[in-house]
Amino acid sequence: MTLAVQIRQHGGPEELQIVDVQVGEPGPGEIRIRHHAVGLNFIDVYHRTGLYPLNMPAGIGMEAAGVVEAVGEGVTHLKAGDRAAYASQPPGSYCEVRVMPAKCVCKLPDAIDFETGAAMMLKGLTAQYLLKKTLPVQGLQPGDHVLFHAAAGGVGLIACQWAKALGLQLIATAGSDAKCQLALANGAAHAVNYNTEDFAARVKEITGGKGVKVVYDSVGKDTWDKSLDCLRPFGLMASFGNASGPVPPFAPGMLGAKGSLYVTRQTLFSHITTRESTQAMADDLFAVVASGQVKIHIAQRYSLRDVQQAHRDLEARKTTGSTILTLP
Ligand SMILES: NC(=O)c1ccc[n+]([C@@H]2O[C@H](COP(=O)([O-])OP(=O)(O)OC[C@H]3O[C@@H](n4cnc5c(N)ncnc54)[C@H](OP(=O)(O)O)[C@@H]3O)[C@@H](O)[C@H]2O)c1
Repeated sequence: MTLAVQIRQHGGPEELQIVDVQVGEPGPGEIRIRHHAVGLNFIDVYHRTGLYPLNMPAGIGMEAAGVVEAVGEGVTHLKAGDRAAYASQPPGSYCEVRVMPAKCVCKLPDAIDFETGAAMMLKGLTAQYLLKKTLPVQGLQPGDHVLFHAAAGGVGLIACQWAKALGLQLIATAGSDAKCQLALANGAAHAVNYNTEDFAARVKEITGGKGVKVVYDSVGKDTWDKSLDCLRPFGLMASFGNASGPVPPFAPGMLGAKGSLYVTRQTLFSHITTRESTQAMADDLFAVVASGQVKIHIAQRYSLRDVQQAHRDLEARKTTGSTILTLP
C-alpha cells in the first residue's frame, strides 16, 4: 500500500484526505512512476472546489517528478529506472506512486533535479505556449509590450524571465509591493500593484498611450474588463485562468468598440495532446532552464501530509513562485 491524496466530494481544503491505495501494473501506453516531488498548481484548487468537476472519489494534482518503475506495452520513450517529470491528465499526482498514461511524461535531463522538475513542468510548459504560441496576428517582436497578471506566481515568475530572454517588455501585475519587486527582479520591465493602482491607467502611461499587444490574464473575473482597456487595436486578450473566479459572458460587439480585439481562452492540455508536441515544448523548456535564462523558484515546500495547508496558502495569495509537496 502507498499514500495518495483523494477527495470524496468537492469542497474546501479539508476535503483533501490522505488514503492508502494499492497500485498495480501499467497497462498498454502506461507507466508506473515513484514520485520524488509533486508540484502544486492553481488548477488543483479548481479541481478540489468543483469549478472543474471531477468524478468521485478523485485524485488531485497534475505535476510531479520521479523515477519510472515499470512501463506498459507500447511505451518506447521511457524505461524502468529513468528519471522523469510531467504535467499530465488525469489528476492524481498527489501520491507516492501511480500508474498513469506515458504520453505526457518526459525524461528529465540529468542537470535538473527532481524538485525543480516537479516545480516547473505544468507552469513552464504553460509559459512556453503562452509566450511562443499564443500570439497576436503579427507576432511579437523584441521590444514589444505585453501585460502579464499575477506575475509573481508560479507561471508568472517563469514568464517574467522567459519574456525577458525573448526581448519582450513585460508589464507585471501583482497583489503587493513585495510581489512587484519580485517580478522586477525576475525580468519584468515594469510592475504594477493592482490592489493599490489602476493597472489600465498605468499601462497606458508606460506604453505612451498605445496599449500592449497581448494581455495574459489568469486572474479572470476581477481583471477582465480593465485588461481589455490595456490592449492596442487588434491586440490579443489571452485568457488562461480564473484565480478570482470565471469571466462572465460578454457581448462580442464590445471587442469591436475597443479596437477590433482578438480573444482566446487557452489551456495547456490542448497543446500537449501528442507525445511529439509535449516533447518539443518540454525540450524548449529544458533548454531555457539549462541555459540559466529561466530559474525555477521553489518558494514553498510542504509535506504531502500538509496538503490542506498548502491549498489554504495558495488560495490566500500567500505564495510566490512555485510550491512543491515533498514525500515522506
Ligand atoms: N490555462 C492553462 O493552461 C493554465 C496552466 C497553468 C496555470 N493556469 C492558471 O494560471 C494561474 C497561475 O497558476 P499558478 O498555479 O502559477 O498559481 P499562482 O500564480 O502561483 O497563484 C495564483 C495567483 O493569482 C493571484 N490572484 C488574483 N486574484 C486572486 C484571488 N481572488 N484568489 C487567489 N489568487 C488570486 C494571486 O497573486 P497576487 O496576490 O499577485 O494577485 C495568486 O498568488 C492560475 O489562474 C491558473 O489556473 C492556467
